[in-house]
Amino acid sequence: GATAEAGAKRVLLAAPRGYCAGVDRAVVTVEKALDLYEPPIYVRKQIVHNKHVVRTLEKRGAIFVDETDEVPEGATVIFSAHGVSPAVHAEAKALSLKTIDATCPLVTKVHREAVRFARDDFDILLIGHEGHEEVEGTAGEAPEHIILVQGPDEVDDVEVRDPEKVVWLSQTTLSVDETMETVRRLREKFPKLQDPPSDDICYATQNRQVAVKQMAGECDLMIVVGSTNSSNSVRLVEVALDHGAKDGHLVDYADEIDEAWLEGVTTVGVTSGASVPEVLVRDVLDWLAQRGYEDVSAVTAAEESLLFALPNEIRRDLKARD
Ligand code: F3S
Repeated sequence: GATAEAGAKRVLLAAPRGYCAGVDRAVVTVEKALDLYEPPIYVRKQIVHNKHVVRTLEKRGAIFVDETDEVPEGATVIFSAHGVSPAVHAEAKALSLKTIDATCPLVTKVHREAVRFARDDFDILLIGHEGHEEVEGTAGEAPEHIILVQGPDEVDDVEVRDPEKVVWLSQTTLSVDETMETVRRLREKFPKLQDPPSDDICYATQNRQVAVKQMAGECDLMIVVGSTNSSNSVRLVEVALDHGAKDGHLVDYADEIDEAWLEGVTTVGVTSGASVPEVLVRDVLDWLAQRGYEDVSAVTAAEESLLFALPNEIRRDLKARD
């Protein structure tokens, strides 16, 4: 056109993005189980909160169910990365299911903290989202001691038995800033509030948010690849908008991007949630390149190298096979 463009079209690509160690482990667990054991292999809940991952594993033969009682007696069931309550383990046992637990070790860590503080008779203020599988699993470790706090606005309504014995714990995939605000208000109300022994919001959630914060101010549009039920992915859109991105959207696939979002856009930020395979990000970059956004630069907030060993059941059976 006659008017000069505001600047050259470009893409800022966040790093780290995509798979965390817990997701990688959970997905590989299902893949190995499909290789190792006679079908059918059941998975309770989505193994990780990503549409594409679930569809792909379904095609390979995994059967996803909502509850353990949908699994036939004696069959094999994998528990998802988000963790399960002791009641679910008990149900599985009652049905003589062979269980493989793909709970992320960083979620298990929070479970252990809940058990320990409940044993010491603390009231546990669990910051998290009602109905999220991880929260159900963690709360199930100590239902009598856990009070769910969904965010800063709920602090006023929180009541405890003994304000001298309160601790906060959290879901692993929350917004760091919002959680700190919730904690600040809780501490105003309960000055003796104890902190978790170590960060409950996991390294992957934190790093993905830091990268988005670094680039958000330069982005006219932030595209986050991830599913709507993925807590950490949804947070990335919120964090981007809070830190200066002019617009932001969550998409599962490149073909969900609306051309209209690109109107007047020079810089597009791209990232992905912890449950998102890199191929989906590649598709988004290709889609953008076809529309003139070919210049891609990385914004790197941290290097990640963490890897978790596969669940014991799988490791043992892999060894026995070799
Ligand atoms: Fe675990 Fe954090 Fe990933 S809790 S599953 S490492 S997002």
